[in-house]
Amino acid sequence: MLVFSSMSGTNILQPRMTLARLTTQKERMGHCTKVPRNVNMEKLQYGYLFPEIERHELLHTEKYPNAKLIDLGVGDTTEPLPSVITSSMIDFVHGLSTTEGYKGYGPEQGNKALRKAIAEGFYKNLNVKPKEVFVSDGAQCDISRLQLLLGSNVKIAVQDPSFPAYIDSSVIIGQAGDFIANAEKYRSIEYMKCSPQNDFFPDLLSTKRVDVIFFCSPNNPTGHAATRKQLQQLVDFAKKKGSIIIFDSAYATYITDDSPRSIFEIPGAREVAIEISSFSKFAGFTGVRLGWTVVPDELLYSDGFPVVNDFNRIMCTCFNGASNISQAGGLACLSPEGFEAVHSRVDYYMENAGILFETLASLGLKVYGGANAPYVWVHFPGSQSWNVFTEILEKTHIITVPGSGFGPGGEEYIRISAFGPRESIIEASIRLKSFFS
Ligand SMILES: Cc1ncc(COP(=O)(O)O)c(C=O)c1O
Repeated sequence: MLVFSSMSGTNILQPRMTLARLTTQKERMGHCTKVPRNVNMEKLQYGYLFPEIERHELLHTEKYPNAKLIDLGVGDTTEPLPSVITSSMIDFVHGLSTTEGYKGYGPEQGNKALRKAIAEGFYKNLNVKPKEVFVSDGAQCDISRLQLLLGSNVKIAVQDPSFPAYIDSSVIIGQAGDFIANAEKYRSIEYMKCSPQNDFFPDLLSTKRVDVIFFCSPNNPTGHAATRKQLQQLVDFAKKKGSIIIFDSAYATYITDDSPRSIFEIPGAREVAIEISSFSKFAGFTGVRLGWTVVPDELLYSDGFPVVNDFNRIMCTCFNGASNISQAGGLACLSPEGFEAVHSRVDYYMENAGILFETLASLGLKVYGGANAPYVWVHFPGSQSWNVFTEILEKTHIITVPGSGFGPGGEEYIRISAFGPRESIIEASIRLKSFFS
């Protein structure tokens, strides 16, 4: 069994500023305002994971200026947008320079045609109405706006490991409680362990009741797509406990088998779930920025008030509508021609995932994911994930993501992203093969 040395101790994410460092900073800068720091910000343990990975990338480039670095870390899309999408945005932009084509503020909830296209394109026969679809500038922003909606008095559960924005936004809004250093967990968050031992689905019998369950499928980072049976159990659990599920389907278009692409495929979900999703990975809009949230009419608070009314208020007050240029692009993605073109990019990334999966599996490593998501999740029993990350980076000049950055359940794992040009994926496979064999 390959076990990595403990080169760098435990977590090497940038730590919180110590009191001594703060005092030095204060002396150096001279003036401080009288504004106290938000105590919730103070509770955040490290920098946000992905900028931290980029920091390591930068340090590595400075150390090895001639190395050809391959970035399979953060998970950003790399393939150019299909011209059918960009030309619709160009046409829209040109229109902005004309009297007839100029558009100012649009509806805060999104362009009517796009809301309809999302409802019909992604939720056909699922009874999702266009007025339940809220167009946004991305799923990550919607996670924070949903946290604002929920406030600090709710208790949340997350899959462990999970996409870090759920926990970090929970800390910022004041739901998380104190950080328990030796467990690498926040006291008030329920961590639902998802590992190969439980088919990446939490043991709901031992899960405490919470108000809100963040659930991501296909999952980032493990790549696991929950089965219909698993999601039915989740919906039944939420209904029994009176909880709300926030279902993140940002990778739904990567599903290749018959796993549900939306929580609303599950009977009963309309009474217990909100769905957030994104054009980022589906259409390469990570920089263009476009996403959406579905809040069904049937979802009610304990006093019977509709959640959708409050979410509408949040969108009107804290957001002012997605960029109309992005929305023009989004509409083009949902035309038959656009959909086919963006889907070919998804297929391309999934072929990359297949190559990485095969390479790592052929080396005898325990590899998961890669079949319904653009991530492979690799297990290194007995090793700390930051050490695996560091050693792979040092020896192969490949950036990955240490699993522990996604929560304590990610320890011993690394996540490898399949986003990248084919040549880089093949080159990465060659380097990984020579490193591990
Ligand atoms: C699970 C998950 N949700 C949300 C997001 C954020 O998506 P967006 O770019 O729409 O903000 C990501 C981005 O990687 C993600 O992996």
